Amino acid sequence: MGTKNKKYIRFGVIGCSRIARKSVLPAILDSNLARLAMIGSRSKVKAIAFAKEFHCNSYGSYEDVLGNKNIDAVYISLPIALHEEWAIKAAKAKKHVLCEKPAATTLASAKKMIAAAKKNKVRLMEGLMFRYHPQHAKIKELIKRGVLGKLLKFDGCLAVPMPDKNNNILNSALGGGYYNDAAPYPISASRMIFGEEPLSVVCHLKMNLQKNIDTKSDMLLEFPEGKSAFISTAIGSYFQSTYSVLGSKAYIKATRAYAVPKDMDTKIYIEADDKTTEIIIKPANHFKLMIDDFCAEILNGSASTKDYEGDLLAQARILEAGRISHKEKRIVYLREL
Ligand SMILES: NC(=O)c1ccc[n+]([C@@H]2O[C@H](COP(=O)([O-])OP(=O)(O)OC[C@H]3O[C@@H](n4cnc5c(N)ncnc54)[C@H](OP(=O)(O)O)[C@@H]3O)[C@@H](O)[C@H]2O)c1
Repeated sequence: MGTKNKKYIRFGVIGCSRIARKSVLPAILDSNLARLAMIGSRSKVKAIAFAKEFHCNSYGSYEDVLGNKNIDAVYISLPIALHEEWAIKAAKAKKHVLCEKPAATTLASAKKMIAAAKKNKVRLMEGLMFRYHPQHAKIKELIKRGVLGKLLKFDGCLAVPMPDKNNNILNSALGGGYYNDAAPYPISASRMIFGEEPLSVVCHLKMNLQKNIDTKSDMLLEFPEGKSAFISTAIGSYFQSTYSVLGSKAYIKATRAYAVPKDMDTKIYIEADDKTTEIIIKPANHFKLMIDDFCAEILNGSASTKDYEGDLLAQARILEAGRISHKEKRIVYLREL
């Protein structure tokens, strides 16, 4: 897809989802590097309603979006089990792909998506927007300055009340189960904080056997030099969106780490020498920052510096290790996969 001399990326939307409506389409409209060029839906009525709401003059089916020569990239926010099919179709249509998290339900699926993107010379990014929130850069800066001392342990939790019974999270055929939906966040945060990949994974999923979905997950990731990450997710829970990092000199906690409204202050607490210090980070729209980054990297072409695809693969590998660990009741080494 030629982007030479282009100043912005024209997005087509595959699926009129809740997250598209609430956060991502407003972020595309806010970004100077993006244009909302076409809405795609299975339903014409829905496509028209979204087009009207987001001031977009073009709409149609998913296939229409992929067939539109004036689209550079697609944003896919379908149920998880449909990501692979549409990401591959989009890549074949020479569209760059911003795909909601988790990109894939299996490691094999992630590999197929990446292969299709590489073959068709388009970029493929998994939409883990939280990484763009400035609170994490602040925490990484504190770590780099040695405030925490030697890093020992990460603890990340994403937990929510029971969703509506029609939510795709509760539908195993659509990629449901809360592990797929939520674990990608704290897993990604642990990799971001340690700046390394884990060596092994132990995972236990609490299953709802009637629905064939998990409702709670507990994982232990072993990182190099004895560092560990405890990852937990749950539905039917008091809301939690946090992580903490324990070091030899201090303890730090991000109290609102993953799902952060764009107008909300975030608070970081540092405990050291029996004293707690609060740092307030001003509101930021991590969805817009992600869209800006994705567009800038595409516009940079061969000068791009980001390995979105490698990151997507690393995430898929850890999630797969967790699934195997739960199924076979054993520690799974990442080198096995
Ligand atoms: N980054 C975040 O903060 C965040 C937050 C929530 C969810 N997500 C992720 O975003 C994705 C979508 O989640 P969501 O909760 O927003 O989804 P949703 O509201 O349920 O929407 C999914 C959309 O997919 C389309 N679709 C196509 N085939 C479908 C089928 N068989 N059943 C249901 N819908 C179908 C529908 O759009 P049309 O009818 O227009 O075709 C539907 O509106 C998931 O990967 C989820 O993990 C991310």
